[in-house]
Formats: sequence, structure tokens, C-alpha cells
Amino acid sequence: MTIRKAVIPVAGWGTRFLPASKATPKEALPLIDRPVIQFAVEEAVAAGISEVILVTSRGKEAIERYFEPSPELEAFLEWKGDSARLEQIRALSSLASIRSVVQHEQLGLGHAVLTAKALVGDETFAVFLPDDIIDAPTPAIQQLLDVHQRTGGSVLAVLRVPREEISRYGIVGGEECGPRTYRVRRLVEKPKAADAPSDLAIIGRYVLSPKVFEALERAKPGAVGEIQLTDGIDGLLEEEEVYALEFEGELLDAGTPLGLLKASVRTALKRPDLAEEFGSWLREQVARLE
Ligand code: UTP
Repeated sequence: MTIRKAVIPVAGWGTRFLPASKATPKEALPLIDRPVIQFAVEEAVAAGISEVILVTSRGKEAIERYFEPSPELEAFLEWKGDSARLEQIRALSSLASIRSVVQHEQLGLGHAVLTAKALVGDETFAVFLPDDIIDAPTPAIQQLLDVHQRTGGSVLAVLRVPREEISRYGIVGGEECGPRTYRVRRLVEKPKAADAPSDLAIIGRYVLSPKVFEALERAKPGAVGEIQLTDGIDGLLEEEEVYALEFEGELLDAGTPLGLLKASVRTALKRPDLAEEFGSWLREQVARLE
């Protein structure tokens, strides 16, 4: 039951990051000195996933290029004797086998995942939304894979959210069947808090049975012409078991300017090379506020 493949959709418009995302994919924006996409790829690799399938669109070539070898840069770093950076750059192109497939029209996350069908084939696979960076002692996807190993079902990452945020997420309903684990009975996309079956919101990590592709093929585009991934998972629920895991770890949101700013501050304060100087500068800034 080894999971070999991860699908990472990066074809969206990234409108919340305009104007920056007009020419630079939002997934290539840096969290300090690493593009956001790198965190998802590294998390996949840390969990033993060896094949990454990027679902891309026109203008997103920078993401694929980032993981390709760069002989000129490598030769320059070698000439300079900068072996630390050389090693870092070389490691990027051997991290995983990375393939891509183009989503010609941005018809939603469900449609993006369906675009990867031929490259995934008939096996259970992982999905990462790279905007959701999860800082966790055990990679979040590994925590989901452990539930998959135990149950054989599909697994969704969930997080408890405050009542006033419920209407921004896909919410799961079901019963607890183990520590932080739920057997999912229904999914509701962006419900009003009063109608929501729980406060457990779906976050950007999934382990999905290939049966989800059939469900996505059956799904009809919703109000804004998009096929949602939750529609596909809803279809899966009719035939197979789906679980939700309240993962352990901290969610950093890199999908909005404010989120990426907060994620950058949080990450800088944990980085040994930056924490001290940045921390004392930040204290000064906070003192000024007060
Ligand atoms: P988001 O809704 O968070 O990203 O989709 P977006 O649409 O790019 O951003 P905004 O809302 O306009 O600011 C979650 C993930 O799904 C991908 C996005 O690239 C992102 O990684 N996605 C979304 C696709 O690949 N295709 C789509 O049609 C829609």
C-alpha cells in the first residue's frame, strides 16, 4: 500500500496575490528564501513519495524550471568555491521525479486533479495544496498516510476552525473512530455556521483513492463554472470509506499577502541564522506600536 505519487495543482490564477502573481506564479513567491512550492515537494519526499505531478498552466514555467538542473549556475558556484550553495542547488533537481500536465482552463481544483488522471493511473495518491504550509514534527502527509495504512480508506486533513471562519471552508461531518480520526459521512462546502455539521475544516492535504476520478468525471460544474474537489470526494463517499484526521502541526497560509507575511515572520523566528537579529528588530517594531 505504498503511496508513490503526489499531485500538486498550481494552475490557479492566484488573484489574491495580484499584481505580483501577474508575472510570477504565487507558488513561486518566496517564504524568506524558498519558493512556497518547495515546502510541499519536500513534505512529499519526506513521506517517501517519489513522483510529483504538477498541474500547471500557461505562465507557470518558473515552477518547473525551479526543479530542473541549472548547469551554468552550478558551474559558476563551483568556480566560486561556494560548495554549500552548490549542494543546495544540485539537491533541488534530484529531490523527486517531477512531471507536469497542463490544465488549459482554470475550471477549479477538482478539474485540476482530474487533469492528472492519466499520470496517476489506478493507484491511491496524495494531493497537496501548496498554499497550505504545515509545520509539523511528523510531516502532515505522513500522518494521513498512517491513517490510510490502518484503514485502507481515503483520508482528508482537517483542522478545527473558529465559528466565524466555518463559511470559508469545506466542512466534514461524521463520527470519531480513533484519536483525532473521524469516519466521514458528509461534506458541506462553505456552509453557514448554523448549518455546519462540525467545526472541522478541510485543509490542503489529501490521500485519495483513484475512484475519485470517476466521481470527478460525474461532477457537474457549480455556480461559478468550477468543479470542486469536494464534489469528487462527496461522490467517493457513496462507494468507499473516507476518513478525516485532525493532524498535529501548525498551518501557515501562504495563499494571501497577509498570510505569507505572517508565515514569513513565524519561519524567520525559528531559523537559527535569522532568529536573533530579526527577533530584536521585531521587538523594536512592536515597542513602537505600543
Ligand atoms: P486557490 O483558490 O487557493 O488558488 O486554489 P487560486 O485560484 O490560484 O487563488 P485565488 O483564489 O485566485 O487567489 C487552491 C489550489 O488549486 C490550484 C491553485 O493553483 C492552488 O494551488 N488550482 C485552482 C488549480 O490548479 N486549478 C484551478 O482551476 C483552480
